[in-house]
Amino acid sequence: MRNPTGEKILITGPTSQVAFPIVRALAADNQVLGLARFSKDGDAARVEALGAKAIRCDLASGELAEVPEDVDLVLNFAVVKSGDFDYDLAANAEGVGLLMSHCRGARAFVHCSSAAVYEGGGHEPRSEGAPLGDNHRFMFPTYSITKIAAEAVVRLGARQWSLPSVIARLSVPYGDNGGWPWYHLMMMKGGVPIPVHSEAPSTFNLLHEDDYIAQIPDLVAAASVPATTVNWAGDAASIEEWTAWLGELTGLPAKLAPTSETIGALELDRARMHELLGETRVRWKDGIRRMVAARNPELLKG
Ligand SMILES: NC(=O)c1ccc[n+]([C@@H]2O[C@H](COP(=O)([O-])OP(=O)(O)OC[C@H]3O[C@@H](n4cnc5c(N)ncnc54)[C@H](OP(=O)(O)O)[C@@H]3O)[C@@H](O)[C@H]2O)c1
Repeated sequence: MRNPTGEKILITGPTSQVAFPIVRALAADNQVLGLARFSKDGDAARVEALGAKAIRCDLASGELAEVPEDVDLVLNFAVVKSGDFDYDLAANAEGVGLLMSHCRGARAFVHCSSAAVYEGGGHEPRSEGAPLGDNHRFMFPTYSITKIAAEAVVRLGARQWSLPSVIARLSVPYGDNGGWPWYHLMMMKGGVPIPVHSEAPSTFNLLHEDDYIAQIPDLVAAASVPATTVNWAGDAASIEEWTAWLGELTGLPAKLAPTSETIGALELDRARMHELLGETRVRWKDGIRRMVAARNPELLKG
């Protein structure tokens, strides 16, 4: 499917690891508005340099006066993991509801959720009906719970305002803009131990930014009332496998530190995703090699 053109698109969290490349891809042919607090110096300028308009707003505040109501699409990528449940629920969940109400005339609301909403434990790939749980508690105490709360709000908003919505449960996004494997590369460079769950292997799904950008139009098309929920995931690969591959590419050893106090395997079932969004194209080893070449070419062997 082709990217939208000539539309007014509100993207929340435009400075995020995941959405920044989406802003870049869409701003060329659309009027893109990027909503964030822009808490770091230079962030608003970075977004505006891509051709988007920066809108300063804290979703927790509910003050949306600066946000146009007449947008065609909302792509909600903002997330906060402050560790304060009150604030994180206000921003990640209530804020999304207030935004949906404000932009209820949009033709679609795309909500980026996370594999973090699934119950942890075991190696069975999770389909969308699998039980939910608090699996990210070790790393980000408020994350799973506020992402689950946000999904409930999006489900309500879709029905309340007949706003076609899709909830995309993203696994491990990565690419030239970084991601978890890149943090692992930095840990390998610094000789820092990398926690892996003692119930090996720690399998997730790597989704390259080329693939998730290409799937945005399909996500928009999948938006419905009531909301559609779909896993958003690329090739299955484990931390053990991708750190070994990073080691082959760079010669840096990975010091894996097995523990039960970290996020365990969370592979996603991709049947519904393949039906709605199609197959992914970037194979994980190639995507990781490209990531290293883009971000740290000095580390590549040869
Ligand atoms: N990264 C991953 O590995 C991963 C995995 C699965 C799912 N996801 C999902 O992908 C999406 C993007 O994640 P990310 O990791 O790329 O995000 P990120 O890099 O942590 O960036 C978060 C974004 O949200 C904005 N933001 C934070 N608090 C806000 C608030 N109160 N009001 C308005 N904007 C706010 C931030 O800008 P300011 O701080 O300037 O406001 C920033 O643009 C999220 O929905 C996340 O749950 C990410």
